[in-house]
Amino acid sequence: MINEITIIKPDDFHLHIRDFPDAEKYINDSSIWFSRALVMPNTLPPIDTPEKMIAYKKQIEASNEKIEPLMSFKILSSLKSVDIINFKKAGALIGKLYPKGVTTNSSDGIENLRELYPIFAAMENQKITLSIHGEDPSVSLFQREKAFIPKLEQLTKDFPNLKIVLEHISTIEGVAFILSSSDNVAATITAHHLLFSVDDLMGGPFNPHLFCKPIIQTVEDRGVLRAAAVSGNPKFFFGSDSAPHIKSKKECSTSAAGIYSAPLAIPVVVEIFDNYGKINQLENFLSGFGADFYGLSRNSDKITIKRKKWKVPSEYHGVVPMLANRELNWSLKK
Ligand code: NCD
Ligand code: ZN
Repeated sequence: MINEITIIKPDDFHLHIRDFPDAEKYINDSSIWFSRALVMPNTLPPIDTPEKMIAYKKQIEASNEKIEPLMSFKILSSLKSVDIINFKKAGALIGKLYPKGVTTNSSDGIENLRELYPIFAAMENQKITLSIHGEDPSVSLFQREKAFIPKLEQLTKDFPNLKIVLEHISTIEGVAFILSSSDNVAATITAHHLLFSVDDLMGGPFNPHLFCKPIIQTVEDRGVLRAAAVSGNPKFFFGSDSAPHIKSKKECSTSAAGIYSAPLAIPVVVEIFDNYGKINQLENFLSGFGADFYGLSRNSDKITIKRKKWKVPSEYHGVVPMLANRELNWSLKK
């Protein structure tokens, strides 16, 4: 039995920290476990210009020196292909595409991928990764990721050199698409899609703190996601999709989609890898494959995680985390 493991400090390749001043609290929580975080641009208003992206980055750096922000911009239909050059100069790692209405703060999202072909061509040229919330909101909830896959297949044919990340994959079909695609296509996997199934969300009483997009799917989907995560295939790496909403926005009649997981996602992932007897693949999934895919060097700092129980707080700064008040088996060794 392994009781302690030292790995390169992880990267979170999908993180929501919202706007300042609240962002400071969330980035502080993330800095405990993560060396770098790819911060999502669906703030209100969105990060949709190089100037806003640079300003956001500076605010993050000023508020926490321990964690390095990796930057993204939101792809809007008003975006021009010349802007892509400026985003590259400003240091953007990804452009994030949200289909219109698919999730939190996406009413300004995209309706027609074809209209964006000049943008995709420019991103391919500039070597900016296209990061996609891959769901089709026009079909029924549990079919949305599956329905988006033909669009992705077309995109990968039309832009074979464009790097694409299908974010927070949630289904058997999503995993199959990644496995069948080229090395330019990869996927992030969250802790919550690895840990839970729809039964935890609403098989009994509905738990709004497990409500997110894409929705947590079936036990069968979860099994395939777990197998992909522990497989050692570099096309699958960690992105928490930690997405804080204050308690009153979750515990109400129109609960917002998003799960706050950053303070406890790593212990959850460790437990799953340990259960599979795949602790040896943990470092690649959390701290290796994502950096490799993005052409970043792996981090030099390390963390040690030990088998020691702790209780997840009921709230972090007014946000109820995933697994609030529950006991976890793995802790950060200080
Ligand atoms: C995210 C959020 O709250 O910003 N919500 C979610 O359910 N995952 C947006 C997103 O990544 O879909
Ligand atoms: Zn997200």
